[in-house]
Amino acid sequence: MKFLITGASSQPGFKLVLESLRRGHEVLATYYSNTIPIEHENLTKVRMDITDLETTRKFIEDSKPEVIFHTAAYGDVDGCEENKEYAWRANYLATQNIAKIAGKIDAFLVYLSTDYVFDGTRGNYKEDDLARPINFYGLTKLLGEVSTLSATERSAVVRASAIYGLGPGRKNFAKLLIEKLSKNEVVSAFVDQYLSPSNSVLLAGALLEIAERELTGVFHVVGERMSRYEFALRIAEKLNFDKNLIKKASMDEFTWRAPRPRDSSLNCDRTRAILKTEFFSTELALEILKREYEETIRRS
Ligand SMILES: NC(=O)c1ccc[n+]([C@@H]2O[C@H](COP(=O)([O-])OP(=O)(O)OC[C@H]3O[C@@H](n4cnc5c(N)ncnc54)[C@H](OP(=O)(O)O)[C@@H]3O)[C@@H](O)[C@H]2O)c1
Repeated sequence: MKFLITGASSQPGFKLVLESLRRGHEVLATYYSNTIPIEHENLTKVRMDITDLETTRKFIEDSKPEVIFHTAAYGDVDGCEENKEYAWRANYLATQNIAKIAGKIDAFLVYLSTDYVFDGTRGNYKEDDLARPINFYGLTKLLGEVSTLSATERSAVVRASAIYGLGPGRKNFAKLLIEKLSKNEVVSAFVDQYLSPSNSVLLAGALLEIAERELTGVFHVVGERMSRYEFALRIAEKLNFDKNLIKKASMDEFTWRAPRPRDSSLNCDRTRAILKTEFFSTELALEILKREYEETIRRS
């Protein structure tokens, strides 16, 4: 199939490109200010600014993908709070534009969204639970979800949480942790912030299954619920780092520009019952992370 993947220079976008190529799909991958370090005969890389609505429309209509994976976003949570005007354009208006184009050219649309659409007061949120973002990033991503689902029936919203893995993209928690622990540096991790971390490779497999089977609606593709501190310990244990370097911290000791949900863990029972792809197992996810780490060491 012919895919368009926006945000292919991000961690989830990059892993999605790799898995799509491995499965034999033809991929048009877009980036903005960072590159996509893959060369492949079935891959075309294009620089695109999704906030340039007209150029984006023309490019997508001319290239006629069968599936659009829209993962590009302004993902900096504090940045969104500070620069609301840009966050509005990049996360809401650009998504609305892409969703309308998908409907017009009859492409199946998969929109990558976030656990931050929830307020984090209780956790374990199901796919159809009340979304009530407490920061501007979450609000703009929720508007992206609504735009997606209302513009075309051939669409899916996939929520992930604390996406992690090694390779391109901004620093994620696992990357940062491994970077510090491998240099024997101390890392602080919150004991009172709960998430359900999504491994980027497993997420890519689930996104592809959703597109290949044309599954519509809202999906939660996440791992087990755990605190950041537990997550750090599990990674350290798996990769044989010194667990004593991980220090307990509390969210109350920190102030961010944008408020953070305390427990944005997602319930994925319904999604697990629909998908054949295994995405939930922490053991499998950490095994993949370990292999990525060993590969990084082998190459250095
Ligand atoms: N980080 C998480 O834990 C998490 C959790 C749940 C969902 N998500 C979702 O996953 C996706 C990626 O998030 P991330 O945190 O990895 O974000 P990120 O590092 O900020 O990456 C965002 C991606 O969007 C691209 N992009 C940004 N502005 C653009 C523009 N104006 N035009 C075209 N492309 C643009 C970036 O390209 P360049 O890098 O080339 O500039 C990059 O590929 C987002 O949809 C986010 O909402 C993230």
